[in-house]
Parts: sequence; structure tokens; C-alpha cells
Amino acid sequence: MITSSLAERLREAQHVVVFTGAGASAESGIPTFRDALTGLWERFDPAQLATSDAFRADPSLCWGWYEWRRHKVLQAQPNGAHFAIAELASRVPKLTVVTQNVDDLHERAGSQNVVHLHGSLHSPRCIDCGQAHTLSLASDALPGDGSRIEPPRCSACSGYVRPGVVWFGEMLPEGAWSVGLAAAEECDVFLSIGTSGIVYPAAELPLRALGRGATVVHINPAQFKVSSQEHFLQGPASVMMQSLLREAFGDHPVS
Ligand code: OAD
Repeated sequence: MITSSLAERLREAQHVVVFTGAGASAESGIPTFRDALTGLWERFDPAQLATSDAFRADPSLCWGWYEWRRHKVLQAQPNGAHFAIAELASRVPKLTVVTQNVDDLHERAGSQNVVHLHGSLHSPRCIDCGQAHTLSLASDALPGDGSRIEPPRCSACSGYVRPGVVWFGEMLPEGAWSVGLAAAEECDVFLSIGTSGIVYPAAELPLRALGRGATVVHINPAQFKVSSQEHFLQGPASVMMQSLLREAFGDHPVS
């Protein structure tokens, strides 16, 4: 439930952090990782697809899977949660959007300077020399989720081009992590939206915010336990974010 004191905290906040996981993009038709039946990790083995060993062992299988995901994102549209988050930026003195998502739906809804902790589907690079590679933006035929597609080759060294995402066993991009951590430690309201909160170090951010005295709010349709100092708003991200903005700021016209 959105209490009047929570609405007031948000209205008076100087710095708000919005921290998103796959659930924030679920209503855009992008599958989450761990939801029962529909989650990507229910249907695919992360060890075969989301590690650098997996890529080196079978580049076409791995690249094909990420191309399927990239095309799905290209065909998707931001949802009400992305728009409400972008709108929130105009309501508070400072907003930092930190996401674990590798899509660009926050940006397409109007959010700026989004901190991507787990990289992006849209910034591939050479697995050997690291040179950035540009992919076509055309959202032509959606490849099947089991398609094998040979990865492009790097124009500098002919190495394979890999997805620009963070794989299991890899470090987070240093700049993104330090900006996210500093924001979590400085903010007065921290909204954690649509994440299972089990992948570290990203999952540490709400704890850091809580430790520094921020008001921490979790938004998720699936109930989970939070400490007595935290708030839990049960429901889809779009509905809860629009309600939160309405309660805190009244008149807002979020699409
Ligand atoms: P998960 O799939 O682990 O969790 C998604 C969360 O979104 C779950 O708690 C769902 O209940 C919730 N959810 C589903 N629909 C929702 C909706 N409409 N509104 C709000 N919440 C909803 O995804 P993440 O927490 O993002 O890492 O996973 C974290 C990381 O694990 C990912 O970034 C990825 C993955 O392995 C890497 O690739 C490094």
C-alpha cells in the first residue's frame, strides 16, 4: 500500500535512485530470467549461453540466442513503468536510473544517463581486441530462439564479435558500478523495481541504500519478504509506478 508518508518521502526526496530488473521490461513483452515457465533461465541453460567459455565453445549458438533477444527488444516498446520513471526525473531534483537490463527501453521512454550494470545488447565488441562493432538496427525477421547465427568478425583483428553484455563470471563495467554504488549511498529514496535481487553485486545496491538510511521501496507482483524498514508494493511495475507518482505528485499525466 502506498501510504501518505511514503508519498511524502518521494515528494520531498532530493535524490531518487530507480533500480530496475527484468520485471520492469516484462510488460513490454521481454521475458524475465527467473519467472516460472516464462523465464529465460527456465528454458535455457545459462552455462551454455551466458559465459565466455560458452561463447568460445559454440559462438553461433550463443550469438544466435543474443540476436533473438536483440530483435525482440527492437520490436518492443517501452511500457508505463519506463514512462513513469522518465516522468519522475522532472518531479525530483535528482534521479539516477540504474538498470540490470540489457535493453534500451528506459532510454526510448526518455530517461537519460541510464547506468547499465550488465551492459547492453546494443553494444557488441570484439572478444579478442575489444573493438566496438556496429550492428544494423533493422528489426527485420525475428530469428528463432534456437537459431544458430555465425557472429560477425572484428574489422580490426578478425576475432569474433561478442554481445556487449556482462556474462556470469565477468566483472561489472567499472564506471557503471561506481556510479550506481555512489548513487545508492547518497540517495534518500531507492525504488527497486522488478528484480529478484539475487544476482550480486547488483543486488547489493538496495542494501547499501538502506544502510545509509534511505527509504527503500520494492515493487514486484510476486510477494517477497522485506525488512520492517523497507516498503513493499505488490503489483506490476507500470501500475505501481503510475500510482506512486499520482499519490506523490497528484496531477501527473503519465501515458
Ligand atoms: P529475474 O528474472 O531474476 O527477476 C524478475 C523479477 O521481476 C521477478 O521478481 C518477478 O516477480 C518480477 N516481475 C515479473 N513481472 C513483473 C512486472 N510486470 N512488474 C514488476 N516486476 C515483475 O530478473 P533480474 O532480477 O533482472 O544478469 O535478474 C538479475 C540478473 O540475472 C539479470 O540482469 C541477468 C540474470 O542472469 C546477467 O545477465 C548478468
